[in-house]
Amino acid sequence: MSSLPTLKNDVLLRALMRESVPYTPLWLMRQAGRYLPEYNRTRAGAGSFMAMAQNPELACEVTLQPLLRYPLDAAILFSDILTVPHAMGLGLQFLPGEGPRFSSPLRGEADVARLAVPDMSELRYVFDAVSLIRRELDGKVPLIGFAGSPWTIACYMVEGQGSDDYRLVKGMMYGSPQLLHRVLDINARATIEYLNRQSEAGAQALMIFDSWGGVLADGMFQEFSLAYTRQVLEGLVREREGRRVPVIVFTKGGGLWLEQIAACGCDAVGLDWTVNLAQARRRISDRVALQGNLDPIALFGGEAAIRQQARRVLDDFGPVGDGGHVFNLGHGISRHTPPEAVATLVDEVHGYSKALHGTV
Ligand code: CP3
Repeated sequence: MSSLPTLKNDVLLRALMRESVPYTPLWLMRQAGRYLPEYNRTRAGAGSFMAMAQNPELACEVTLQPLLRYPLDAAILFSDILTVPHAMGLGLQFLPGEGPRFSSPLRGEADVARLAVPDMSELRYVFDAVSLIRRELDGKVPLIGFAGSPWTIACYMVEGQGSDDYRLVKGMMYGSPQLLHRVLDINARATIEYLNRQSEAGAQALMIFDSWGGVLADGMFQEFSLAYTRQVLEGLVREREGRRVPVIVFTKGGGLWLEQIAACGCDAVGLDWTVNLAQARRRISDRVALQGNLDPIALFGGEAAIRQQARRVLDDFGPVGDGGHVFNLGHGISRHTPPEAVATLVDEVHGYSKALHGTV
């Protein structure tokens, strides 16, 4: 790894470690995506989402697209959380105009009995993309790798697709909890290998997306989601190239469990827009950094509103002190977002946050 260029902008990594920074770094969940016309062109040329994700050159091209437009402080690998169950043989497809779908979902004991941690060679396209992106970034900003939480990928594996009420996976949870525990343990072990291979290939920070943790009842969240996120964290290599590899855990709808999430072994917690950042800091005594949490739909309010709402998030976090703040949206950017809105947001977060860091 000694041949890799040194990192020119390490503001994100420093903020995640609660070290002093000149301004609040930002990146956006789904920053490479359908709101960018250049993304849509690359995707049309590739033919499908999976064709693009499985081609390291195209995955690299799409990862870098938002960075060519905006001075963001991080790149995030272009891939998907569902590559892992795809490698387990569940048959992932993204049909036009629909979300993800598995051709062989887990519906009972026989399906679960066949499930195993996949050979990581099945996911080589992801690690090749990470290495290539890292080289092409040339030290401009750090590269974030990611995976879904064991619970969130289990939701798709059992349901076979997105769901309004999660009745199949929750039915398994309430009716055959041991069966679901088996799935979650396999997912956790697969995720450990998957994330460790990403950081080995060059990812400098990692994020675990628990997008559906918030649909669980209190008690169930701790047993079926958080326990397995913790298992993943315990298995991760936390230092590469002489530097900590910080891990961010994002549980959509997890605000009520913030203290418990912050104690799971992560370096930072991602928050959706329902949480007040000042209160969140107090609740966790600045023991981990926080990432978030502008409502993605605020980007539809026009320039003045975007600037005002960005300042509101930064003011809520307040003087940085012993804390660490990474600005982000509270969930993925909408495909309908005007690209100019993102330019306005980046400008305001960088400009306004300098005061909070004593830079101006
Ligand atoms: O953030 C980034 O720019 C990196 C790429 C990324 C994608 N998916 C690309 C993608 C990341 C980090 C993900 C994570 C992911 N995938 C999550 C967790 C984050 C979240 O949004 O809660 C989840 C739940 C998935 C599963 C998934 N993938 C769904 C439900 C969908 C369809 C919904 C949608 O937004 O269309 C996808 C498809 C997908 N993954 C797209 C992108 C850019 C859009 C698909 C396309 O181009 O056709």
